[in-house]
Amino acid sequence: FKVPEITNEPMRSYAPGSPERKALEQAIAQLEQELPFEVPCIVNGKPVKTGKLAKQPIPSDHAKHLCTYHEADQATVASAIEGALAAKADWESMPWSDRAAIFLKAADLVSGKYRYKLIAATMLGQGKNAWQAEIDAAAELTDFLRFGVKYVEELYSIQPPRNTPGSWNRTEYRALEGFVFAVSPFNFTAIGGNLVGTPALVGNTVVWKPSPAATYSNYIVYKIFEEAGVPPGVIQFIPGPPAEVVAQVIAHPSFAALHFTGSTFVFKKLWKDIATNVDVYKSYPRLVGETGGKNFHLIHQSAELKNAVMQTVRGAFEYQGQKCSALSRVYVASSLWKNGFKDQLLTEVAKLKVGPPQEFTNFIGPVIGKPAFDKITSYITKAKDAGGEVLIGGSADGSKGYFIQPTVILTKDPKSVTMVDEIFGPVLTVYVYEDADFEKIPELVDSTTGYALTGSIFSQDRKALLFATNKLRNAAGNVYYNEKCTGAVVGQQPFGGARASGTNDKAGSMSIFYRFVSARSIKENF
Ligand code: SER
Repeated sequence: FKVPEITNEPMRSYAPGSPERKALEQAIAQLEQELPFEVPCIVNGKPVKTGKLAKQPIPSDHAKHLCTYHEADQATVASAIEGALAAKADWESMPWSDRAAIFLKAADLVSGKYRYKLIAATMLGQGKNAWQAEIDAAAELTDFLRFGVKYVEELYSIQPPRNTPGSWNRTEYRALEGFVFAVSPFNFTAIGGNLVGTPALVGNTVVWKPSPAATYSNYIVYKIFEEAGVPPGVIQFIPGPPAEVVAQVIAHPSFAALHFTGSTFVFKKLWKDIATNVDVYKSYPRLVGETGGKNFHLIHQSAELKNAVMQTVRGAFEYQGQKCSALSRVYVASSLWKNGFKDQLLTEVAKLKVGPPQEFTNFIGPVIGKPAFDKITSYITKAKDAGGEVLIGGSADGSKGYFIQPTVILTKDPKSVTMVDEIFGPVLTVYVYEDADFEKIPELVDSTTGYALTGSIFSQDRKALLFATNKLRNAAGNVYYNEKCTGAVVGQQPFGGARASGTNDKAGSMSIFYRFVSARSIKENF
């Protein structure tokens, strides 16, 4: 069989009065009426109510919570792992076409039946506006699942190029021996689905610990997999206290791989802990991680002004800067800055309305929670203390929801703290360089942080684009010309970076599937 042609899921406009707008408003109203939901762990397809309860608050109105969930306890984690190991043989030996069909059906359920419910849950629980939630929970999730099927087809077709007469060489792509552990973040509902879907598609069974701040939307994703036909035990859903669950899972001898998206700090900690357990494991675990970023726009004097401004605003402030790809440092040529960039940037930022995302006129929603709110606002204070000038924003109100005004800081020190540290919030720092110094700036961009996720170069002069691209060889895994540094599209821009940003295994590409298979070469003589 051949997987059908795959195209990206079309995005809906949510224009006032449109059918999708009405459907989404209805889905939001229904969630608001029915909340809080109760979310169990799911082990071997059965709900497990441990009674250890935790809450997922609504970040735009933190007195309310979207769900109460049962945290996995030790016994639940242990049975999730045993169940995943037991489910593996049948899942792995299921014909590939059947695994593919299950995931193509899951994609159709995301794109159709559950689209608005998932978007509404992502809006309320994770604070995304409708368009950001559409990109994530509808389009990107669907694309991950559909393109994933296509990539696995490609992977399985890669065979040794040469056979000698009288024999046949072939390569078999087996699932890893053991189970895969997926640890997913709050900021993209799609990433949860992908961290689980990628290893499962190639026959692995997966123990999944979602982010506490995305429990409900991730639970819906789990239920979609179940409805699509993923058998019991293949995906074990175990929300829980991160440190305890993680320590227990990575201490198991059959731990075969980590599929992680989250902070650099946590990934490094996991790496170290896994290293200390290495003698316990049957195989060397595969560690696949996408972590932090300190992403840049490098703007040359020849850049088209309006485009550079608009892309900068979107790159920095969409989803309150809570994307690992979010723009947080801008290097702009002095002539451009003085001749319109500064004024237009401030005018555009002033237009961004802050408030609950379920009111469609708000562009900026809340940040995810109290620790994030405190951390982000402390960086604004640190920037001021270091002599940075707050050009716009700078204030915050966490009394009802965790709202922070979009903030632009001008710094004279290109290595000041907000040019270096990942903030993960709506804070953009700008450094203005003299036009004549352009050739020195890529080296500065490269040496300022340890991250290397995304970056954009704006110029109408190809020589400048090439110069910067060559100098910035290792500074970003995803580079854009004349476009914001966020919004990689599955099937179009494989996503991920190196250095402190991750293992650069490229989500949304064929190469990541290699990490979750163990190849076996078979030679047969006739
Ligand atoms: N893939 C997303 C982007 O490119 C971030 O995770 O913005």
